[in-house]
Amino acid sequence: QRLLILNGPNLNLLGTRQPEVYGRTTLADIESMCRAHAETVGVDLDFDQSNHEGALVDAIHAAKGRSAGIILNAGAYTHTSIALMDAIASVELPAIELHLSNVHAREDFRHVSYIARVAVGVICGFGARGYTLAMDALVSHLDR
Ligand code: DQA
Repeated sequence: QRLLILNGPNLNLLGTRQPEVYGRTTLADIESMCRAHAETVGVDLDFDQSNHEGALVDAIHAAKGRSAGIILNAGAYTHTSIALMDAIASVELPAIELHLSNVHAREDFRHVSYIARVAVGVICGFGARGYTLAMDALVSHLDR
């Protein structure tokens, strides 16, 4: 069983980007944590990041036939992208929406999510640890 963890815009800057909001863990650290967790859980993992909406759409399409499910931290595109919502709906793979920060405790524009409409569920507010929580949630959803 293979999972895709897909990260959107500005998440390549984790570690130095607004550390008071997003913490000091880098995306490379998070990838290492997720790869270690994948071994523990017994799943294969693709881990990817792009700052480009179309590239994220392509990555979601490429997951079809390869991955059993998707964990998507779409960054700001969460709040704007009908294209990403449609891509998730199109591939018919279970998806979990993920955020490091608790978006509901932040600005109003972060309370809107196009991704949530097509997601199994949403994990937010647990920082980098949310990634492994999301892996557990997705695996348990797939094994249900
Ligand atoms: C984020 C929350 C988004 O609102 C923001 O635009 C991000 C990061 C998070 O992980 O907390 O880029 O997705």
